[in-house]
Order: sequence, then structure tokens, then C-alpha cells
Amino acid sequence: MPFTANRQFKAKPRLMASAKGMYYTTVDGRQVLDGTAGLWCVNAGHCRDKIARAIAQQAATLDFAPTFQMGHPGPFALAERLAQMLPGDLNHVFFTNSGSESVDTALKIALAYHRVRGDASRTRLIGRERGYHGVGFGGISVGGIAPNRKFFGSMLPGVDHLPHTHNLEQNAFSKGQPSWGAHLADELERIVVLHDPSTIAAVIVEPVAGSTGVLIPPVGYLERLRSLCTKYGILLIFDEVITGFGRLGTAFATDYFGVMPDLVTAAKGITNATVPMGAVFAREGIYNAFMQGSEQMIELFHGYTYSGHPLACAAAQATLDIYEEEGLFERANTLAPYWEDAVHSLKGVPHVIDVRNLGLVAGIELESIAGQPSVRAYDCMVRCFEQGLLIRTTGDIIALSPPLILEKQHIDQMIDLLGTVLKQVS
Ligand SMILES: Cc1ncc(COP(=O)(O)O)c(C=O)c1O
Repeated sequence: MPFTANRQFKAKPRLMASAKGMYYTTVDGRQVLDGTAGLWCVNAGHCRDKIARAIAQQAATLDFAPTFQMGHPGPFALAERLAQMLPGDLNHVFFTNSGSESVDTALKIALAYHRVRGDASRTRLIGRERGYHGVGFGGISVGGIAPNRKFFGSMLPGVDHLPHTHNLEQNAFSKGQPSWGAHLADELERIVVLHDPSTIAAVIVEPVAGSTGVLIPPVGYLERLRSLCTKYGILLIFDEVITGFGRLGTAFATDYFGVMPDLVTAAKGITNATVPMGAVFAREGIYNAFMQGSEQMIELFHGYTYSGHPLACAAAQATLDIYEEEGLFERANTLAPYWEDAVHSLKGVPHVIDVRNLGLVAGIELESIAGQPSVRAYDCMVRCFEQGLLIRTTGDIIALSPPLILEKQHIDQMIDLLGTVLKQVS
């Protein structure tokens, strides 16, 4: 099983049978409120009829068409629509099937971009400590979560890492962006001096890190990273696999922060998680750099059998319809202050040493039991599930990221139950 304690799970499984709107139903018929939009992906709520119909219709019309030297209208129409959603000249799209594939694709595009421009010495990739960029070899190399890396050899060569921005002494219980920590972006200067800018291809960060336990960027941090990347000719990649499609109350985090990256990765919410799909968005200049030389030549030697799969395209179109028709990104934005107050009401509840939030995301950090990291949060997760709430934990941090369709009553229900459970755990 993926990222699961197999033996523990199989001894006492937690199995979902169906889902609708804000709730899962377990195999034993219990309702479980979805506090995590599945895995940060079911932004429009579960089992939406419109998406189910679109997938069924597409499966009966064109189930698959090859996209190597062939095509079908689906990905082109979807790319046009997505390009309208992204700011500035982030107008070109490469389709993948997951966040991990999007990350590896973006890293490869960055490396190849410098090479096709005759700047082939730019081969280094810079990630960040505690970063999560999926599980491909590229993603774990630039990622910064030790257990995801240590079992898998030496990974990609020529990778360095920025420091993470998490600091409870300075920023505990910050509402929204913490005020301390923008200067940590200046570490890029040190890395640039060490390796020389002529060797560095790209910096990749999550604008808001989720899987590592919800890390919100300090005020001014992303802006500084942007200006340093521009100064040294380094591409800036925003990994928006969880922040894309409304999580912060805007279409993408790049809109929320007003910081323009060169490449953006996405997945998850693009199809409301119904059919696996990911995407990489590239700025005009990057696309154009490849469109040179003989027109008989393949410009980018990369792609997946299922890039732009017809079912995924149909699911994405229906998902984007729902986001638009129901104004779900605006809805997330409107609910964010209520959400903020609700999650911060957990300050003072047993074990809670930090609460942090942005958009419809929250991280609740618990004090670890001495010598037993993760045990307290895991216990919370199991008890929440048994009492009717799905939460996600990383180490001793609880992450909440509900579907954007939620109502205030769901927020109240979530926080009440979590508060109760936190008082139950030892
Ligand atoms: C920022 C980020 N990048 C990449 C991924 C990997 O996505 P996937 O699990 O679809 O490969 C995730 C998954 O949570 C993520 O949060």
C-alpha cells in the first residue's frame, strides 16, 4: 500500500465504500466527513454527476487515441481553457498523469530549455528542505523529506537545497502568512556563490507546502526567491499540485501571492481526482525556445502514453465547469476568515503547539510524545476516523484541506470533533 503501515492497516482496515458531497461512507455504513478533500484533490466534493456523465460519455465515444505524432481535440481544448486560467504568459501546457510526473516533467523541461538555448552548463536543480515533490527520482532528489529519500540511493546528482522556513519560536500560531523568515530566501545567494549561477537550471518550491505538514511562506519570501532567480537567469518552478484549483481562494497560488514563476506543476484538483491527470504550465519564452530548428524534429523527447487521455480531458472540462458555475474558488476565499477563526480556536487545546492556516488549508502541530514521534497524531487520525472525520497526518502535524464546497456547519463539525479527539489522546 502507498505510504501506509501495511501490517497495522491490514490488522484493522479503514475502507471507504462510497462518497457523496462532503462525506464518505465506510464499508460498515458509517458517514465520515472529508476534512482533506481525499488527498487534497476532491475540491468540488465527491461523486459529482456532471463529471461522472462526462467520463461515461467520453468512454463511449473515444476511449483512447495515441498522442505521439497523433492527437485528438481533447488536450488542445483543455490546454486553451487552462491557459486562460493562468496569469500572464503561462500559456503552454504539457499533460501528465500525476503530480510526480508533473514535477519530473517540469525539471526535464527546465534542463532541456537551457540546453536548447546553448546554456548546457545549467544542470543543477535546487529544491528545499522539507519539500515534497512526489516520488519520482527527480521529485525525491529535489524534495527534502528524509524518509522519502534515504532508502533510494544517491538519486539525481547536482542537487542542492534551500533551508525550510518552519520556525515555531518565531511564528507559532501565525494567522495567514507568518511575518518572520523572508530572509531565508537569501540562502539562494549562498548556493549561487558556491556553485556559480552558470551551473544552476532551476529552483523548485511549493508556494504553500502541504504534505510536509503545512508550511506557509513568510511574507516576502516568494518575492525574494523570484527576484534572485531573475537576477541569476534561474527558472523558478512553483509546484502547485495542491495549491492549484482554488485551495487558497484563487485559481493558483501564483495569483494569490502575485508572484510569477516560469513553470507551474499541477494535478489533483484538475479532474477533481476522478481520472488521474497532471499538467505543467510553461511561459511563452520557454515554449518558443524549443520551437526552433527543423520542423521534422521532435522538439521535446518526453511524454507518457496517457498524456492528455480522453477520459481525463473530459473529466477536467466538467470539473472546470463546476468550479466556474459554483464559484468555488471565490467560495474558498469567502470562507477563509471563518476557517481561520475556527482552526485557531484549537489554540489551548491539549497537545497543540501550533496552528497555521491559509485559504482553506490548516496545519495543527502537536507536541510529540517523547521518543515516539508521530504516535500521537496517528492516534488522533484513527480516533477521528472512528468518530466520523477524515484528517491527514504527517509526523505529529495534522493537515486539513476540505473540499471547497463545504459549509460553515462542516467547519464547526470538524473542529468540534477534532477538539474532542485531542482531549481523548494521551
Ligand atoms: C506539492 C506536491 N507535489 C507533487 C505531489 C505528488 O503528486 P502525486 O501523488 O499525484 O504523484 C504532491 C502530492 O501530494 C504534492 O503535494
